[in-house]
Amino acid sequence: MAFSPVYWLYSILQWILAKIFSPEPPAPGARLRRPKIAIIGAGLTGVSAASHCVGHGFDVTLFEAEGRDHLGGIWSQVNSTSGLQIHSVMYRFHPAVTWEGGYPKQNQIVSQIEKLWKMYKLEDKTRFNTKAEKVYKDAQGRWIINNPSEGRFDGVIAAIGTCGDPKMPHLPGQEIFKGQTHHSSQLDNVEAKGKKVLIVGGGASAVEALEWAVDTGAAEIKVLARSDKWIIPRNAFVDGLLAFNIFGQETLFSWIPETILRLFFYRDLKDIAPADQGLFTETPMVNSEIFNQIRAGKAKWLRGDIQEVQEDGISFNKRGQGVPKGGPGHTTLVEGDIIIMATGYKRPSLSFLPDEVFEEPYGPPRWYLQVFPPQHPSICANNCTYVNAIGTVGNYHIGIYTRLLLMFLVDPLTTPKTWWMKRWIDMTSTLKSLAPTRAFDFFTYSELIYWFCFVVLINPFRWKWAAFVFFGIGSDLPARVVEKEDKLRNGLGYEKSYLN
Ligand SMILES: Cc1cc2nc3c(=O)[nH]c(=O)nc-3n(C[C@H](O)[C@H](O)[C@H](O)COP(=O)(O)OP(=O)(O)OC[C@H]3O[C@@H](n4cnc5c(N)ncnc54)[C@H](O)[C@@H]3O)c2cc1C
Ligand SMILES: NC(=O)c1ccc[n+]([C@@H]2O[C@H](COP(=O)([O-])OP(=O)(O)OC[C@H]3O[C@@H](n4cnc5c(N)ncnc54)[C@H](OP(=O)(O)O)[C@@H]3O)[C@@H](O)[C@H]2O)c1
Repeated sequence: MAFSPVYWLYSILQWILAKIFSPEPPAPGARLRRPKIAIIGAGLTGVSAASHCVGHGFDVTLFEAEGRDHLGGIWSQVNSTSGLQIHSVMYRFHPAVTWEGGYPKQNQIVSQIEKLWKMYKLEDKTRFNTKAEKVYKDAQGRWIINNPSEGRFDGVIAAIGTCGDPKMPHLPGQEIFKGQTHHSSQLDNVEAKGKKVLIVGGGASAVEALEWAVDTGAAEIKVLARSDKWIIPRNAFVDGLLAFNIFGQETLFSWIPETILRLFFYRDLKDIAPADQGLFTETPMVNSEIFNQIRAGKAKWLRGDIQEVQEDGISFNKRGQGVPKGGPGHTTLVEGDIIIMATGYKRPSLSFLPDEVFEEPYGPPRWYLQVFPPQHPSICANNCTYVNAIGTVGNYHIGIYTRLLLMFLVDPLTTPKTWWMKRWIDMTSTLKSLAPTRAFDFFTYSELIYWFCFVVLINPFRWKWAAFVFFGIGSDLPARVVEKEDKLRNGLGYEKSYLN
């Protein structure tokens, strides 16, 4: 690779971040202590959370439903051409991650997850082919995953993600299609050179499939999108600025970024932008290149509904901007040789958790900080309850959520009570009652950071843990204070911490 001063600076920055914020991997043969955490899912969230736990001296077992080839979760299952649409600076899922550029591809992402897994000696702590079916408490209040043979745990991190198996909805008439049909995540061995490619879906996978088809030399590319989603530029500064909306919802000022995007980013392609849906309501797609490809005539983006598949294409009812799904339009046959189903993924189920955590009105994502069910602050559903956001899945917050759980387990004075957890949820719902979405169905990254600051500040017993929770440093001092508090608390007949 040619010398690049920007990349050089980025490498130095990553090296510094790793030095300051990466917890030390456990020494060979080191005895890890309680609280012991069960981590369900070996994608980047599970592996990162496990690394944080063992790095701070706490024992873990990782349960992964699939085999060793699934280490890395969804990233281990997608095309080698798939990659980050956001800048890698916003996808630092652990401080030890070192990116070799701004927009890493699938294999680099998986290799960084594997690096952590090996560095923090998680090989012996991972149970592959072990799907969590049932999580329940024993008589002592310790968590059991499936059955007691796997051990007893003080806390549970569910890290099952939101993208499970590929979703392949049935399209009417698809049986008579003469060409091939593939899911957007399975394109590695597909040959599209000189072919007419039809992409069903209008989300991030459709954008990726469009880029793949251009790179593969497809003759014609048409995206058949039944709903409009916002597309924002691939620019770390702009994306950071949009995530800076601390209210986490549409505000009086949302028209400003929306108008700027329409005027200066969409420009002549304004017709593709959502007509009546605010930017702060749904996860936007991040891409600057597809507009150029559409302008260059390499691809077309069509809005409408699939009527039926025919032998040589799809009969499609093309709708105008603002006309709702199923509304009137103009039906034509859109010819194609290959159909790519960019129709998303099935959401993995959290139903292995105890029934009470799903009781309305406090079912997911209406949980404390979106991830702690109010009945059980010892469960953290890290990264798998979110619906929509402007932010990122693979960043700083994985460590913060993990350390909040550790703090709740280690220091009983910091553990939130069910009643207060529900009040926080009610308060956040009230603050966002004017939002077009339900309160927890959309958030921004700065809102998340505000949530963290709020819950640490509101309880003085958590103050001593602030540096640990936010940066992963300085756990010794609060631990010593907790030991002292323990003696007092236990003298008064209260529960003891796990520290001694
Ligand atoms: C092509 C693609 C590109 C993406 N790009 C971005 C991006 O640029 N930015 C972004 O923020 N996000 C992106 N995402 C979203 C992506 O899902 C997350 O970034 C991230 O990979 C999620 O990691 P995870 O560990 O939480 O979940 P996953 O990677 O989905 O891992 C979950 C693991 O849990 C296991 N599991 C599930 N249920 C059970 C069970 N009951 N018992 C045991 N194990 C179980 C699964 O087998 C899986 O291995 C992208 C997704 C895709 C598909
Ligand atoms: N590099 C990246 O950043 C990247 C790449 C890929 C995926 N991802 C992430 O992965 C997740 C999944 O993204 P995704 O694009 O795969 O899925 P998605 O966001 O769920 O989008 C699926 C698309 O398919 C459409 N669709 C579903 N069923 C259909 C049907 N029967 N007929 C016609 N259209 C249908 C949906 O339309 P409706 O909206 O109308 O339902 C939607 O446009 C997201 O979190 C996304 O951010 C990220």
